[in-house]
Amino acid sequence: MYPEHVAIIMDGNGRWAKNKGLPRISGHKAGVERLKGIVECTINYGISYLTLYAFSSENWNRPKTEINDLMHLLSLFLANDAKRFLKENIRLRVIGRRDRLKKSIVKQIEEIEINSYKNDGLNLIIALDYGGREDIRSAIINIYKEFSNNNISIESLTLKDVEKNLMTTGIPDPDLIIRTSGEYRISNFLLWQSAYSEYEFIKCNWPDFDNNIYIKVLQSYGKRDRRFGKLNE
Ligand code: FPP
Repeated sequence: MYPEHVAIIMDGNGRWAKNKGLPRISGHKAGVERLKGIVECTINYGISYLTLYAFSSENWNRPKTEINDLMHLLSLFLANDAKRFLKENIRLRVIGRRDRLKKSIVKQIEEIEINSYKNDGLNLIIALDYGGREDIRSAIINIYKEFSNNNISIESLTLKDVEKNLMTTGIPDPDLIIRTSGEYRISNFLLWQSAYSEYEFIKCNWPDFDNNIYIKVLQSYGKRDRRFGKLNE
């Protein structure tokens, strides 16, 4: 069985570029090209949800020039490729904070989200200015307001209440999380949602993560024994 929801930490663009003697931006450009190939492959394998970690809450600490380059690439992606995705029946959703993004980018995101709302093909989720801790923090604020406005006892809080207030509400938890570039870290990605996710850490840098490697990872997922804390009968 293939996973219903794949999430990917697309790491190693900078190292890919450095190994080739190229500027970091070339690595990010190659990363966007690879991302498109992975989206197509995900559709071909009938996977319903794909979440891509494009920019973390902590990525703001990078040099301004690199942040600008990444935002420019994102804006191009939203202007060109995301429109093509709409034609391919993809529903696009962006998770993360929006108040620190440029207004023009927020406008692009909102437009595509509204236009693709009714699409029922692949659910493509881009994590942008996303951090798992921030996701949980903002959920706590929402819950506090809802509970205090309605005089609800905090003791009655359920796991469903928390899930409903996360940025990923309505999206099933990721079954498989892939990280490229040989690093073994979660880097603040989907902390709550990954409680029972399977992980796959791949040595190659993101631009070299080709469809064949991806397909092998998907197939090996099918052999895993997921018990969710239970016993296998
Ligand atoms: C990690 O490589 C990658 C990122 C921080 C951003 C991922 C972004 C893209 C694939 C392109 C932009 C995305 C969209 C949706 C247009 P790194 O820079 O951390 O690499 P390094 O660890 O080798 O330096």
